[in-house]
Amino acid sequence: MPGDKSISHRALILGALAVGETRISGLLEGEDVLNTAKAMQALGARVERIGEGSWRVNGVGVGGFAAPKDAIDCGNSGTACRLVMGAVGGCPIDATFDGDASLRKRPMKRILDPLELVGARTVETAEGGRLPLRLAGARDPIPIIYRTPVPSAQIKSAVLLAGLNAPGETTVIESEASRDHTERMLGHFGAEVRTAPEGVHGRRITLKGQPELAPAPVMVPADPSSAAFPMAAALIVPGSDVILPDVMTNPLRTGFVTTLMEMGARIEKLNLRDEGEEMTDFRVRASALNGVDVPAHRAPSMIDEYPVLAVLAAFAEGTTVMHGLKELRVKESDRLAATADMLRGNGVSVEVEGDDLIVHGRGRAPGGGVVATHMDHRIAMSALVMGLAAEKPVGVDDTAFIATSFPGFVATMRNLGAAIA
Ligand code: S3P
Repeated sequence: MPGDKSISHRALILGALAVGETRISGLLEGEDVLNTAKAMQALGARVERIGEGSWRVNGVGVGGFAAPKDAIDCGNSGTACRLVMGAVGGCPIDATFDGDASLRKRPMKRILDPLELVGARTVETAEGGRLPLRLAGARDPIPIIYRTPVPSAQIKSAVLLAGLNAPGETTVIESEASRDHTERMLGHFGAEVRTAPEGVHGRRITLKGQPELAPAPVMVPADPSSAAFPMAAALIVPGSDVILPDVMTNPLRTGFVTTLMEMGARIEKLNLRDEGEEMTDFRVRASALNGVDVPAHRAPSMIDEYPVLAVLAAFAEGTTVMHGLKELRVKESDRLAATADMLRGNGVSVEVEGDDLIVHGRGRAPGGGVVATHMDHRIAMSALVMGLAAEKPVGVDDTAFIATSFPGFVATMRNLGAAIA
């Protein structure tokens, strides 16, 4: 299984902000993360690959970024763009950010708004605050208290990374807790971070500014959002019995597995352990699945897994309702529409009602369609997984974007017996 994308981005960024040499093992060498590596180099850090998944970063220290000569090209990656914008927003430098056609459509105002409160200035943007945009980082960054308008680890992380170079305490309040890799890793690099509950599902995170970040080794566990694809395939291809090793089980990332258990999936966690992040070896066997109701408050802990869950819902018996998927509309594609189209085009009965996705499972999928992936890796992988168990093969119009998060996807699936031509 490939390394976790979220942790890989953060290891490179915090390595670049530490003084001295950080060693990273198991780094995801997908295009998204490689864009973050290039961004860190452009901002003055030394970033070197020393072996497969093994990287060395020599950082410049908090506030030490140099102005990049060229625009920072974030490719397809929202995480690269938003986290690096956050880190730059707290430094006295100007930088231009750009990305591919998918990223140019995605909202950036959600990052620019809090960065302006920190003291950064948006010099110019495309219409609607979108890429390409030029950001002037804060000369004297201000520590802020910020309530995120939507549950998003990217917004939270951008604010915390900008707050690193501010004196005093920066606080982010979220009404639904999002993945906490940034705050965990800041602690790992020696920053003082406090986390407290906020309401029923939320958190309040406080960072003491201007720490001296000390290099710390990072071992990247396998990505649960990538493991979701072979896991889903194993559940719907008759006779499957698959072990997925070293997968991260951070509780803020495990909504998908929780949902699968409720659907009746035969999943076991072998060798549960904690190596900075909780991890396990999953054993997954082909299972008879039932439709379920997925509550909206679970969305942040499985936000990237809805397309493949929707595929599983087609193979389940009964209706699955996934509530509160508004944020899916602003991912690499409008994932709510793309997921519904993927299923519909393959003979599955599906409805979108407001922000809810409703799939009427019949224990099977006719297949036979060609899915439009809209530059979205997770739509491409979900469609291919559907094809493994559908009655007729499923096609995709483009597999290129799979390399953003899971470069070995086709090889791994073939290894498990999948016929992908
Ligand atoms: C990510 C956060 C999520 C997720 C993305 C990775 C991160 O986005 O969809 O794939 O690493 O922080 P949002 O924070 O915008 O929900």
